[in-house]
Amino acid sequence: MSNNFFRKKSIDLIMRDRKAGFSDAEHESAGLNRVLKVKDLTLMGIAAVIGAGIFSTIGNASFQGGPGVSILFVITAVTCGFSALCYAEFASRIPVSGSAYTYAYASFGELIAWIIGWDLLMEYAIGNIAVAISWSEYFTNLLEGFNIHIPAYLTMDYLTALRAHEELSALGGAGGTAATAKLSYAAQAWATAPGSGNFKLIADIPALGIVFLITWLVFIGIKETKKATNAMVILKVAVVIGVIAIGFFYVNPANWDPFLPNGFSGMMKGVSGVFFAYIGFDAISTTAEECENPRRDLPKGMIYSLIICTVLYILIALVLTGMVNYTELQVEDPLAFVFKRIGLNGISYVISISAVIATASVLLIFQMGQPRIWMSMSRDGLLPKRFSSIHPKYKTPGFATIVTGFVVAIPALFMNLTEVTDLTSIGTLFAFVLVCGGVLLLPKENIDESNKKRFRIPYVNSKFIIPALFITGLVFFWNPILSLMDYQGDWHNYKDKLPYFLFIIAAGIMAVLSFRKNLSLIPVLGLLSCLYLMTELGYTNWLRFLIWLALGLIIYFSYGYHKSKLNTKE
Ligand code: ALA
Repeated sequence: MSNNFFRKKSIDLIMRDRKAGFSDAEHESAGLNRVLKVKDLTLMGIAAVIGAGIFSTIGNASFQGGPGVSILFVITAVTCGFSALCYAEFASRIPVSGSAYTYAYASFGELIAWIIGWDLLMEYAIGNIAVAISWSEYFTNLLEGFNIHIPAYLTMDYLTALRAHEELSALGGAGGTAATAKLSYAAQAWATAPGSGNFKLIADIPALGIVFLITWLVFIGIKETKKATNAMVILKVAVVIGVIAIGFFYVNPANWDPFLPNGFSGMMKGVSGVFFAYIGFDAISTTAEECENPRRDLPKGMIYSLIICTVLYILIALVLTGMVNYTELQVEDPLAFVFKRIGLNGISYVISISAVIATASVLLIFQMGQPRIWMSMSRDGLLPKRFSSIHPKYKTPGFATIVTGFVVAIPALFMNLTEVTDLTSIGTLFAFVLVCGGVLLLPKENIDESNKKRFRIPYVNSKFIIPALFITGLVFFWNPILSLMDYQGDWHNYKDKLPYFLFIIAAGIMAVLSFRKNLSLIPVLGLLSCLYLMTELGYTNWLRFLIWLALGLIIYFSYGYHKSKLNTKE
C-alpha cells in the first residue's frame, strides 16, 4: 500500500482489521470473551495501580522529599489525570486492544506506533520485573517471619549483593541500624553464594516463581483473571484504608514540620518512585476487546481508578510522614515499618501479607496487558503472526502470554530494583507524552447516533493559556534557566541538566503551536507535564531509554517495515 514509514492506519481500517482478525483462521475464529464491566475495569485499574509503589518505593520518596512528598503525589496525579483523559478519548474512539500503540498508529503513523509499542514493553514487561523483585522482597520477609529461610543468594540480584558486600567492607562490618541489617543480609548473600571470585550464583528465585504462576493464571483465561483480580483488589484497598484509619490516631503533627525539608528539588527526587506508584490505570485500555461496552466503560474505569488511588495515596503519604520522622523512612516496607516502629507488630504483619497480595495483583494486570499489545502489533504485521494467535480453549493470546512470562521472569532473576523502576517510569512517561500528542492529531469525526454518547475530552482553547504559561515560566525561572547554560567544565555535574533544555524547547514549540492552531488545552498540558517529569529522571536514564529505542528501531527496520500489512496489502 505504502512504503512510507509515516504511513497511517485510519480509524476505520483499525476497526475493520479487528473484525477481520477474528475471521482469519490464523487468528482463531471466536475472538476474546466480552465480560468486563465498569466495576471490573475500575477494580482492574486499582489492581494495576496500588502495588509496589505505595507499599515500597514511597519509602525512599518520603525520605528524600519529607512530608511534602504528598505534594508530589498531587502533582503526579494531575499529570496522570491529563494523560488518563487522553487515554479515555482514544479508548472510546478506537476500542481495540493495543492501548497507546493502536492510538499512535491512527494519529502519528506506523513508525511512531512501533516506537510506542516497543516503549510499552518498558511499562508492562520491565515494570513487571520491578514488581516481581519487590514481591520477592516482601515474600522472603514473610517466610522469615514463619522461620522458613531461603538461602539469601537465592532471593536477590547479583548487583545488590555485590554493592552490599563492597559497602559493608568499606564500613568495616559495623551493624545496627535497619539499613545496615538490610546491607548485612545482602552481603551475606554474596559471602554464601556458590562460585568463586566475582563469579557467583546469585538469583531471585521467588521473583521467577511468582511470574510463572501469574503467567499461568493469565494463560488460562480472562474470567479467572477477573475473579482473582476482584478478590485481591478488595483486600488491598481495605488494608490501605485500614492503614490510613489506624495510622491517623498515631500521627504527630510535629513530624510534618518542616514540610519540605529538602526543598522542591529534594521532593522532585522522588518522581520515579511516586510516578511508578501511579502506573497502571492505562493498562486497562488493553482489555478493550474484552469489555461489554468499551466506548462508555473504559474511560469511566480509568478515571475512577485514578481518582480513588490519588485520594488514598495522598492520605497515606500524610499519615506515613506524620507517624514517624521522614528521615526514618528509607526502608523497602514503609507501611509495615511504621507500625512496627510504634509497637503494633500484629498490624505490621497483616500489612506485609497484604503487600504480597497487592503486588501479585499488579503483576497479573501487566502480565495480561503485554500479550494484548503484541497481539495488536502482530495483527498489523509488525510482529510474527503467532503473537496474535488465540488459544482455542482458553480464548487468550496464548503464545504471546507465554513469551511475556519468559521475558519478565528471566530478567527478574538478575536485575536491580531501582534501575528497573527508573526505566519503567521514563518509558511510561514517554508513552503518555505520545498519547497526549496523539489526541492533538486525531482527525475530526462526524458525530452521529453511533458515537454521540461516547466520552470526549472537554475542549478548552489553549491559544492564549499555553503561551502565557510559557512566558510566565521563563520570567519566573529566568535565573535557574541561565544557570543551565553555565557549563563550568564539569561534564559529570552538567549532563543531568541536558533534559531540561529539551523541555524548554518543547514547551516553546507547544506555545507557538497552541497559539497558531487553537489546540485543545488538556492534551497540551498532559504532554508538557509528562515531559517535565521525564526531565527530572536525569541523563543516565535518558541515555538508557534512547539506547532501548534505538534497539527497537533496528528491529523495526529489519522486520516490521517490510512485513507490515500496510506495506504488503493491495
Ligand atoms: N503502580 C504499580 C505499582 O505500584 C506499577 O506496583
